[in-house]
Amino acid sequence: MCGIIGYRGQRTAAPLIVKGLQRLEYRGYDSAGVAVVEKGKLRFHKRKGSIQDLIISMPELGGFRGIGHTRWATHGVPSEDNAHPHMDRSGSIAVVHNGIIENYIDIREELVKEGVKFRSETDTEVIPHLIAKYYDGSLKDAVERALKGLHGSFALAVIHSDEDVVVGARMDSPLIMAVGDGEVFLASDMPAVLEHTNRVVYLQNGDIVTIDPDGYRIWDGKGEEVHREEDVVDLNLEDAEKGGYSHFMLKEIFEQPYAVHKSLLGMPINGGPGRAYTGRYDSVKIVACGTSYHAGLVGKYIIGELSKMPVQVEMASEYRYSPHPKGNPLVILVTQSGETADTVAAAREARLRGRRTIAITNVVGSSITREVDHVVYTRAGIEIGVAASKTFTAQVLAFYIVALNLGMAGKTMNADDVREVKQHLRTLPRLVQKTLDTAPDIEKKAKMFKDASSAFFIGRNIHYPLALEGALKMKEISYLHAEGYPSGELKHGPLALITTETPVVAIAIRDHTYEKILGNMGEVSARGGPILAIGDERNHDLAKYSDEVLYMPYAPPIFSPILVGVVLQLLAYYVARDRGCEIDKPRNLAKSVTVE
Ligand code: AGP
Repeated sequence: MCGIIGYRGQRTAAPLIVKGLQRLEYRGYDSAGVAVVEKGKLRFHKRKGSIQDLIISMPELGGFRGIGHTRWATHGVPSEDNAHPHMDRSGSIAVVHNGIIENYIDIREELVKEGVKFRSETDTEVIPHLIAKYYDGSLKDAVERALKGLHGSFALAVIHSDEDVVVGARMDSPLIMAVGDGEVFLASDMPAVLEHTNRVVYLQNGDIVTIDPDGYRIWDGKGEEVHREEDVVDLNLEDAEKGGYSHFMLKEIFEQPYAVHKSLLGMPINGGPGRAYTGRYDSVKIVACGTSYHAGLVGKYIIGELSKMPVQVEMASEYRYSPHPKGNPLVILVTQSGETADTVAAAREARLRGRRTIAITNVVGSSITREVDHVVYTRAGIEIGVAASKTFTAQVLAFYIVALNLGMAGKTMNADDVREVKQHLRTLPRLVQKTLDTAPDIEKKAKMFKDASSAFFIGRNIHYPLALEGALKMKEISYLHAEGYPSGELKHGPLALITTETPVVAIAIRDHTYEKILGNMGEVSARGGPILAIGDERNHDLAKYSDEVLYMPYAPPIFSPILVGVVLQLLAYYVARDRGCEIDKPRNLAKSVTVE
């Protein structure tokens, strides 16, 4: 995951920047680079590989302002050319970028027509060329103009050889400003700069900042100069291993925009593995445990909706011992670790039954990969917290890819259908980031559960598995007894347990079941059950049916499980934290369950 850093102050910039990059190493990267302005000239140094490689090969770089970057390849292979910083033609502007420029191909084509020669395959390189095009003596103005033409997500730091300023900008990618004594840093997150200062300004989407000899100034997305409060963060260097997050789980939840992006890039549609999906099977059987099972349940709706195939989902611990009726299903085994004994055993059983098998897993070379015919890797990055968060999201994502491949193989989807789904998938990293931006509101409303002894999660259709997952996450890390139900089932039994002391999370996304779930929420309210509804920003009427509402960005209902999942993870996290639980290592649980 890319990390960026910028510095302007009275100390030599390069060593501080390199140290900051080392602190960002935990994010994962495959190349790194630094650029500084020394005696009015831009100088840079980049390397594929580790920061240690960068340091060993680095010439002495002077100057009191500069930028640095760790890159995790997205557009273009890891290489020195593709590493940041990227420069304009004249070599006076340098840019580091974290995020994705969605419309870079169009911009690149325009710039090429204007005579620009590109040195890299990256989306980022359009930025310095655009800034150069608009530069007229003010780097801030040129950056502002360039950003107007960009779609996507970015955190940027920019320098120019002729101006004593570092410019930063933020849109849907993390960027903080850390304020020291006579010096100011920009960074992807606090660990990069913790040893110098713990005064921080959290930049907001749309913000542009300048850091010059007079200090720093901030403009918001409307171009108005604004004041943002400085915060003092209560962190020490040890926390840096968790990237400044209080728990690995929280860090992993917040890594999801990148996990989604990276997973999407890594999962081929209609590529060579297309063969894996063509065969004489008549249905799909999904087999998994725990959270992966819930991802499988979401997958059932996705595959059913997109590729119109009959799908069954079974717990891995049951599959082995279940009868095998006639038919020839494609068996999909889902396991983030790839080591879950029940799921690995189910894969063997499926093969014994003569089934074609596919594994969805996050761990390259794990046991399951040796037991199946084909592997779909999610690329969520290492997950340390026992409670699955980003790997769940990546598994759900994998099901869109599987569904597209099945749809194409079975000719139930044409090129236009596929294109439309792919377009929606590309927006997900940004929507996940926007969902994460609602964390302060989730944290506030989590208080509803602090002293409860029991809670219910309800949802319908594709959101029913999310109710199950929300309840699992809650009990796993907060030790609060929680049950997930299809909301229509409440009145067939569980309603007897609803009292004023039993909070209910109602997933109320506006789809064809929306009116029904509102009705079910009415049944809860009539018994005094406090309701926390989860809806999207268009559900203006939801407040009338609930005590509190968590609003997430709008996505078409088939894609909203990804966003609802993020909300439920944060909710469980904050409840667990408020109840003083251990979170990363819940009692009795293990990350990899290698016994049956
Ligand atoms: C998830 O929060 C749990 N820790 C657990 O249910 C987990 O999903 C299950 O054990 C399956 O693990 P796997 O994905 O590694 O197979």
